[in-house]
Amino acid sequence: MEQFKTFNVVGARPNMMKMAPVMAEMRRHAELHPVLVHTGQHYDFSMSQVFLDQLKLGEPDYNLNVGSGTHHAQTAQILEKFGELVRAERPDMILVAGDVNSTMACALVGAKELIPVAHVEAGLRSFDRTMPEEINRIVADAVSDLLFTTEQSGTDNLLREGVAEGKIVFAGNAMIDSVVAALEQARRSPMVGQLGLEAGKYILVTLHRPSNVDQPQNLQPALQAILEIAREHAMPAVFPVHPRTQSRIAGLEISGIQEWDNRSRLSGGGIWLMPPASYLDFLSLMDKAAMVITDSGGVQEETTYLGVPCLTYRDNTERPVTVEYGSNHLVGANPEALIATAREVLRKPRAVHRTPPLWDGHAAERIVAAVIEFFRRRQPAAQYASIDAAKSR
Ligand code: UD1
Repeated sequence: MEQFKTFNVVGARPNMMKMAPVMAEMRRHAELHPVLVHTGQHYDFSMSQVFLDQLKLGEPDYNLNVGSGTHHAQTAQILEKFGELVRAERPDMILVAGDVNSTMACALVGAKELIPVAHVEAGLRSFDRTMPEEINRIVADAVSDLLFTTEQSGTDNLLREGVAEGKIVFAGNAMIDSVVAALEQARRSPMVGQLGLEAGKYILVTLHRPSNVDQPQNLQPALQAILEIAREHAMPAVFPVHPRTQSRIAGLEISGIQEWDNRSRLSGGGIWLMPPASYLDFLSLMDKAAMVITDSGGVQEETTYLGVPCLTYRDNTERPVTVEYGSNHLVGANPEALIATAREVLRKPRAVHRTPPLWDGHAAERIVAAVIEFFRRRQPAAQYASIDAAKSR
């Protein structure tokens, strides 16, 4: 039987939840040979290995170890190293996920090497080109051959940009597949108890967008507002800190922000910093929170699925379905609005939220079915070989 080799790319933390269910589903099909390639964009144990383990991705077949750098340096390294690997191994397809630098760079390599590219979580648009992720999304989508959308807005955006309808598959949300698969286990995580927290009586915080954390004049008022919310509602605000944010907070002087020391029980009225949480621990922290304050894309989706109120500290979202259907409130990067929205959300009983269409735990099945269909319909592999031979002449 002919086997199709795919390169499934992960680079940064949020790629893992999207690629894990796709990898697992591909492994169930004998005609597919999925190869896991990690660019190494994220490399700390807490940002990478623990996710590979908990999401059962296994050890990557290749790790390119690109590490950190400016966007240009990091992207260039991925292009060079992934390009070399792709030229040597000639996969039949490259699958990328999300909107990080690794997504964009690996999609570009595929396009240049005339290897079909599939983008998981295509079409999302914040319409804000100051966000590095927006550039990554636009470029990845422009060079992809199969575009898997998670919500109707994604499909609409792609059609408006002139992407052929036949390339777009509304597959649903693969990240939610991971939540569905892990939720029961996450609910057994001892994390909330270990921190001394009570379900429904704490606020969970994540902030890592450059626009919010890189400048003290933006980060300081955001943290002051969160402190004020914690004090007003006598709840601890738990903040697993992304490495990008860690160094920025260290430079600020705000009283009421404390490091969790692994022993103390968290009390109300303050911000408690802790190291980045594992996937299962974070899921359990989200699930039991009274409210989440975030600037992450994935957290807006996960809280929507869980029905937990989410206050998004950004001026835009590329995931409008989370506001339309879900429990997400787009607050703006505005401290006063954050305090006011928190007051409103915590005062009112929780509204009933709907789960967006096809966020049902089966997105990966639809994605893989479409990949197999693509291979069945595509030109014979020999054509790619002859293109390759022509290029090396
Ligand atoms: C990246 C993605 C962002 C995603 C986020 C999730 C891009 C442009 N950005 O942002 O879309 O939401 O991942 O986490 O791709 N660092 C470590 N250890 C690590 C990784 C990073 O200490 O394992 C530190 C380094 O100082 C690095 C900084 O974090 O310079 C930023 O890392 P980088 O991958 O450039 O961007 P993120 O902010 O993580």
